[in-house]
Amino acid sequence: MSFIELHDVGKSYGVRNVLSGVNLTLEEGEFVSIVGASASGKTTLLKAAAGLILPDKGTITMGGEKVTDFSREASFIFQNYSLLPWLSAYENVRLAVEATFTDWSKKQHQEQAEKYLQMVGLGAAMRKRPNQLSGGMRQRVAIARAFATEPRVMFLDEPFGALDALTRGTLQQELSTLCRAAGRPVTALMITNNVDEAILLSDRILALSRGPGATLSPAVPVNLSRPRASDLLLHDEQAVRVRNRLAEFLSAGSDRNRSKPRPDLQAIAKEIPVEA
Ligand SMILES: Nc1ncnc2c1ncn2[C@@H]1O[C@H](COP(=O)(O)OP(=O)(O)OP(=O)(O)O)[C@@H](O)[C@H]1O
Ligand SMILES: [Mg+2]
Repeated sequence: MSFIELHDVGKSYGVRNVLSGVNLTLEEGEFVSIVGASASGKTTLLKAAAGLILPDKGTITMGGEKVTDFSREASFIFQNYSLLPWLSAYENVRLAVEATFTDWSKKQHQEQAEKYLQMVGLGAAMRKRPNQLSGGMRQRVAIARAFATEPRVMFLDEPFGALDALTRGTLQQELSTLCRAAGRPVTALMITNNVDEAILLSDRILALSRGPGATLSPAVPVNLSRPRASDLLLHDEQAVRVRNRLAEFLSAGSDRNRSKPRPDLQAIAKEIPVEA
């Protein structure tokens, strides 16, 4: 049995069928990404896997237990930062640490929050509130908050989608380093609309077809050693194969639902970030 298993998962909102027959497994310590077109159901899938919403059909298990709620062992990085605006960066992180490590002292909570903010380069800005920080800095706070709770599982919903290419590249490397430096297996499920980002970070990648009733492609393995350098991946033979395979899945989904052209799917296949 795998650490996380989704079996035949389906989800509708009213009459709108978003997910259908979704199967996915993650081994402990694996980094798996899902790519897909805008509004295909990626966030719905991630929230269902994390227990934030319940599917209408199928089963989801983590460590052999049915997922019915958000696990205390998990962290979720939302698509739009989701920091509490009236609290400083430090307070945002400390609050999560307090809620997780309830038997720790106040000093331990403080030290843990400061340690992770320093790790993401925010040592000097930790007293600032979110509206005083840039988008990249806010996302660093969200990453520090997620790692400071020392999660066993991380759910990441387009964590760098709103950032410029340079900041995005830096934070991708930081995330990869934090996962490897954790000193314990961190299992990660990430949504992205950027295939190169998925190749840089993942052990396996799946494509979510365009809905209604979106479903996952078979997993494409990324057998590249780490650390990976994004500029080298551009022309790496294996990376090119992975990119082509995913493009095939995304275009096949497009052909299957042939009612109208799917420029957004073509854009993903060509590595151009898609506007939401
Ligand atoms: N709570 C909800 N109630 C009703 N419909 C919803 C709800 N959440 C999502 N939807 C609809 O379900 C579909 C899939 O939404 P979802 O947010 O999962 O897509 P996504 O792939 O994450 O999109 P994006 O790329 O824009 O982030 C969309 O048509 C959306 O409007
Ligand atoms: Mg989404």
